[in-house]
Amino acid sequence: MASNLAVIILAAGKGTRMKSDIPKVLHKIAGKAMLAHVIGAVKELEPQKIIVVVAPDSEAVAKVAEGCEIAIQAQQLGTGDAVKSAVALLKDFTGNVLILYGDSPLITSASLVKLLDKPLKNEIRIFGFNATNPAKYGRLIVSNNTVREVVEFKDANEAQKKLTLCNSGVYYLPAPLLQKLIAQVKNDNSQKEYYLTDLIKIGWKNSVETSYLPIHENEVSGVNDKHELCRAEGVMQKRLHKRALNDGVTILCPDTVFMSTDTKFGRDVLLRQNVVIGENVVIGNNVIIGPFAHIRPGTVIENNASVGNFVEIKKSTIGEGSKINHLSYIGDSHLGKNVNIGAGTITCNYDGFEKHETQIEDDVFVGSNTSLIAPVTIGKGAVIAAGSNISENVPAGALAIARGMQKNLADWAMKFKKKKTE
Ligand code: UD1
Ligand code: MG
Repeated sequence: MASNLAVIILAAGKGTRMKSDIPKVLHKIAGKAMLAHVIGAVKELEPQKIIVVVAPDSEAVAKVAEGCEIAIQAQQLGTGDAVKSAVALLKDFTGNVLILYGDSPLITSASLVKLLDKPLKNEIRIFGFNATNPAKYGRLIVSNNTVREVVEFKDANEAQKKLTLCNSGVYYLPAPLLQKLIAQVKNDNSQKEYYLTDLIKIGWKNSVETSYLPIHENEVSGVNDKHELCRAEGVMQKRLHKRALNDGVTILCPDTVFMSTDTKFGRDVLLRQNVVIGENVVIGNNVIIGPFAHIRPGTVIENNASVGNFVEIKKSTIGEGSKINHLSYIGDSHLGKNVNIGAGTITCNYDGFEKHETQIEDDVFVGSNTSLIAPVTIGKGAVIAAGSNISENVPAGALAIARGMQKNLADWAMKFKKKKTE
């Protein structure tokens, strides 16, 4: 544990630009709240404490921050004010503090390790990045390699607006220095907000130097609106694709494949076009998925299984060598080995109140267009006739037919057509 490190994550902002009733930091990237990404990255540093600043009545944000200390920011008066509400929880902590924004989900622990690498004196260390579209980021005013000031876009003059070196929103400084400088942050700016960025200017006046470490914008892009959310999702997906490709997964058309940060792949997995994979999914060796498949959270697909087009699987285990190749919904189910699920088979897992489970044992053959009305168990090696509505357990080795029996009326059609055309 890095016992001399405390982390503060700001997550109390209103997120007005998102035009959403959902708190900004709960918007998701790769299926996971932005705040959860930031917490995940800093946890790898094993800090002594993580303090998350949240607005009053934000139970949902606090829930994502479970296990962290929560500081309540009574009113959203700016990033400087947010840190003011967190420093009380530092108490007599004398180590170093890392501050991050909960709306910047792309940061990696590897980069944070670099920021924390060298011992810290009475100084501030931040990440600076060259933004291709500097838009509304704070600009770093640098001379002799020292950051003198961060000027917010709304307070910048025309020359400053042309600068492309921007503030990432990651700060690293000793706790006593933070306590000293944060007390001096005022709201004398165009927004009448307490800017955390003023730490740099106040530090400079107090002979405290700020240095910056360059970082790629793909790690520190802030998400303030839906355009930026969309872009961050793209960056994250590219990162996940790269990792999967490095691990030997074949991805036919990465632009159409969405995966989660925790997706686990075996060897020789083939992902065809248009595949969406939720959190907590494990995919075994030689598994083929897609095109057009939705693998929802909590699914395990074992070796040599295949999942074809227009198939949705939720919280289910698909046993070794089993096949679900066309137009199916499999939810809350456990499939054994070598099960064949015919086209159009649906597990009816929800009765409007509760979810129920379907068990399908090894070597079962389910004919096309079958409804499996859960809870139900299909015994080993059983065969289900196509078009059945199965609501009772099927013994091992049995044939189950549960459909209206067919009646053929000889010559009926011929006579009918004749009558109509006379
Ligand atoms: C901020 C920085 C800017 C930097 C950019 C990087 C300031 C003043 N500006 O601008 O220099 O380039 O991030 O992305 O810091 N928050 C609170 N309480 C508040 C206000 C904000 O907790 O009262 C939180 C937000 O939830 C968010 C983070 O602080 O996670 C940053 O706030 P935001 O309003 O997004 O700042 P930016 O305008 O993006
Ligand atoms: Mg922001």
